[in-house]
Amino acid sequence: MKSILCVFYSCTIALTSAAVKHSRTFPKDFIFGTSTAAYQIEGAWNADDKSENIWDYLTHTNPGAIDDRSTGDVACDSFNNYKRDVEMMRELGIDSYRFSVAWSRILPNGLADRVSEAGIAYYNNVIDEVLKYNIQPMITLYHWDLPQKLQDMGGFLNPLIVDWFADYARVVFDNFGDRVKTFITFNEAAQVCYEGYGSVTKAPLLNLTGIGEYICAKNLVLAHAKAYHIYNNEFRAKQGGQCGYTIAAGASLPLTDSDEDRHAVELFIQFQWALYTDPIFSKDGGFPKELTELAAKKSAAQGYPRSRLPDFTEEEKAYVRGTSDFFGVNHYSGALTSGSLYTNQYAVPSSMDDIEVGQVALDDWLQGASPWLKKMPNSLYHALRQINERYPDYPIIVTENGWSTREGIEDDERVDYYRDALEDVLDALDEGIDVRGYYAWSLMDNFEWLAGYTERFGLYEVDFEDPARTRTPRKSAFIYKQIMKTRMIDHDYEPESYVMTIDPGH
Ligand code: BGC
Repeated sequence: MKSILCVFYSCTIALTSAAVKHSRTFPKDFIFGTSTAAYQIEGAWNADDKSENIWDYLTHTNPGAIDDRSTGDVACDSFNNYKRDVEMMRELGIDSYRFSVAWSRILPNGLADRVSEAGIAYYNNVIDEVLKYNIQPMITLYHWDLPQKLQDMGGFLNPLIVDWFADYARVVFDNFGDRVKTFITFNEAAQVCYEGYGSVTKAPLLNLTGIGEYICAKNLVLAHAKAYHIYNNEFRAKQGGQCGYTIAAGASLPLTDSDEDRHAVELFIQFQWALYTDPIFSKDGGFPKELTELAAKKSAAQGYPRSRLPDFTEEEKAYVRGTSDFFGVNHYSGALTSGSLYTNQYAVPSSMDDIEVGQVALDDWLQGASPWLKKMPNSLYHALRQINERYPDYPIIVTENGWSTREGIEDDERVDYYRDALEDVLDALDEGIDVRGYYAWSLMDNFEWLAGYTERFGLYEVDFEDPARTRTPRKSAFIYKQIMKTRMIDHDYEPESYVMTIDPGH
């Protein structure tokens, strides 16, 4: 195993020699792809019988919540431009395309009483178009766009979400599983629960700190498990695919080498992602032990008659444990972690107050266009290692990874970011960590949630002023293409021109 040297603020990996590194290649069956999400790209918010989802509702009723007061009403207009999107995938030469299905486009009532023919037809078109060019579709069932009608009934705070999601999942598997062989139930549970219910950084901005995120966590995990069992029992035998789950994991490293800071890392991981993954991937199941104890202790001290974190019954634990075929991770960066960094800026109660741990990113780490994004050295490697240590039996797919800039096609920062991140993947593979694939976020610029169109994550730039939503490849598109084509990372490669073509065979 490669050693991580942490001397106070600087952590580096003792790397293999540069010569060996440069000749490394990705395994033949390693999958390269790009990711997108329905609300961020599709537009056509009210086409046919589609109903409002929580992001339609938020942007329409509270425009000031979005940095540039924009909406996803048109976004990249992928509803109409999907053929151009697939052409871009062919230009890049990707193996697989990860996209999400909009629940309210498929089930306009949220509930499964009526399936939209137009909604099904749209996704059939996308799936058939990618498959025509031998690009494997990967579907995320839920990428943050709950039908508003279900939010009105409590959303993820209502235990009935388990059945609502399961019914929706069955419709998706039934209609698309003949051609789609990889499904992801949820994208980033913590961002759904903590940011949407326990804070104000994602719709529905409920800010039910210390309570909302915990109730949501239990219901979401059960909803995932029910959908997985449906796939397993009703579809797997005839469709022969896989069903997994994706969370966002940063790399959390200790600020110092002390036992306290190492423990703080464990607590932060429990807060950031293990709350949503231990029930599924750990040997014993259930929520993480220390977080469960802390939430219970603080709840009692705060006068709550029971813990704010509702635990699972033994039966529920058994039902949830083992319900994923792979571990999907979205990764962007990391931070240094310590109890000494905790500030009392957080509400009481809140899950941050429950753990009393803080994080810091260093001043000399490159700043992305997103305020939360700083480039921690080797963060993807560290995250992959932390996941593998926690759940050694699961293959990992990097379902998102990317860097934000402002407009402009000369995106050298993104180029460096991708090259460095893919070196991290090779480092992880060298250590025997079972990483099966890597999906760049994102195929193109899109609606970046509360940041609107101010932060760009695309390999292709999108002109949001142009009704045609013209897409133009950035420098990083050429670099990613070269990496996929050669299956190697050449740090000196420069594109000869910025003219994009489709290589034979794509
Ligand atoms: C999400 C994407 C988002 C990206 C950049 C991920 O957390 O899944 O939808 O655009 O990060 O913020």
